[in-house]
Amino acid sequence: MMERRCKVCVTGGAGYIGSLLVKKLLEKGYPVHATLRNLKDESKVSFLRGFPHANTRLVLFEADIYKPDDFGLQFKVVSLSFMLPLPFYIKLILSLRA
Ligand SMILES: NC(=O)c1ccc[n+]([C@@H]2O[C@H](COP(=O)([O-])OP(=O)(O)OC[C@H]3O[C@@H](n4cnc5c(N)ncnc54)[C@H](OP(=O)(O)O)[C@@H]3O)[C@@H](O)[C@H]2O)c1
Repeated sequence: MMERRCKVCVTGGAGYIGSLLVKKLLEKGYPVHATLRNLKDESKVSFLRGFPHANTRLVLFEADIYKPDDFGLQFKVVSLSFMLPLPFYIKLILSLRA
C-alpha cells in the first residue's frame, strides 16, 4: 500500500459516515486526523483504533465545531478536511468508494 503525503482531517470521525470515511482513507494510505468531542469515550476511540493502519496513520483529536479554537492546529497541518457534522461532502465520500 502506497503511503500518501496529503493529510486529511475528518470531523465527526467516529460517526456513521465519518468512520466509514476514516477507514477508507486509511486503507488508501492517507494519514488521517479525526476528531471526536470526547477522547475519553473508549467505545468510539477503540472502534477507530481498531481499523487497519490506524496504529501508524490515525491521530485522534478532541474538538467541538462550536469551539473554533479546538480546530486551530489540525486545520493548519492538513491538506483536506471533511466536516461530517455538517450535511455536505457526501459526494466526496462516494467518490472515494471506488
Ligand atoms: N447517515 C446518513 O445516511 C446520512 C444521509 C444524509 C446526510 N447525512 C448527514 O451526514 C452527517 C453525518 O451523518 P452520520 O449518519 O454519520 O451521523 P452520526 O453517526 O450521528 O455522526 C455524527 C458525528 O458528528 C459529530 N458531531 C456532532 N456534533 C458535533 C459537534 N458539535 N462538534 C464536533 N463533532 C460533532 C459526532 O461526534 P462525536 O463522536 O463526538 O459524538 C459524530 O461523530 C449529518 O449531518 C447527517 O445529517 C447522513
